[in-house]
Amino acid sequence: MREPADHRARNACVSAAVALKFAGRDTVRVIDLGCGAGSNLRALAPLLPNRQHWRLIDADRDLLAAAQAALTRWANRAEADPDGSLRIWHGAKTISVVFQPADLAANLDDTLAGEVDLVTAAAFFDLVSASWISRFSAVLISRALPLYAVLTYNGGERLMPAHPADHAMLAAFHAHQRTDKGFGIAAGPDAGLCLERCFAEAGWQVDAGQSDWRLGPENAGLMEILANGTVAAVAETGLVPTADIADWRAAHQSAQSWLIGHQDLFVRPG
Ligand SMILES: C[S@@+](CC[C@H](N)C(=O)[O-])C[C@H]1O[C@@H](n2cnc3c(N)ncnc32)[C@H](O)[C@@H]1O
Repeated sequence: MREPADHRARNACVSAAVALKFAGRDTVRVIDLGCGAGSNLRALAPLLPNRQHWRLIDADRDLLAAAQAALTRWANRAEADPDGSLRIWHGAKTISVVFQPADLAANLDDTLAGEVDLVTAAAFFDLVSASWISRFSAVLISRALPLYAVLTYNGGERLMPAHPADHAMLAAFHAHQRTDKGFGIAAGPDAGLCLERCFAEAGWQVDAGQSDWRLGPENAGLMEILANGTVAAVAETGLVPTADIADWRAAHQSAQSWLIGHQDLFVRPG
């Protein structure tokens, strides 16, 4: 359900910088961290060279299976290999896809090993801790590996119409974001800045831009799911009185619009 909003939100200047970096090449090898159902590949592949080799990594095997099914549907033609990988043709692109189950909290170095030209991830870095980001960026810097991190939640939110509990709800949601999601205390809304700082300090070239979701009545289904997710997260924190949460939920039953702030980032050696 998030995919159309995600693809619409991507920052065009940042994605153009990625396309430019690989323009003129015949082939590119990409790793997608926390790939989910493969949405990042579907957005990015059209911008990259015609021959692509992707390694899709996720801890959740069901999501990897969902990615395989969704990519098969997305492709003009698809062939599954006996080893579980996929070869797909989409427009002018020929793409081989390997699906790799891995826990990135435990196996970062092993997972990044091998020949690769670009590391990417979508809606992933707010889950990880600041110390994981610094370990991760050190690996990329040591190997001169470019990173394209899209749709990193940056904490900005604006719901219309406004409600008196908006501020308390957002503060509690951010407190929940900063709990451990398997990588230590999560960076949450600070993840983008944290990433940017690590690579800027190493003298890397940094392109960053906003990629906010701008949801309206046409995204009513998605807003409903987001509101329920917010309520569940806030309730877990115990920071907002139950009656206020219920009132907030009722008031936003039919929100007119919801802006959710994200950041896209492309970093490569300077
Ligand atoms: C918000 S989803 C984003 C999915 C996808 N990139 C997208 O844009 O639709 C975060 C993803 O990170 C994966 N993930 C969470 N913890 C992980 C871990 N320790 N190792 C590998 N993947 C993990 C989840 O399974 C999930 O697919």
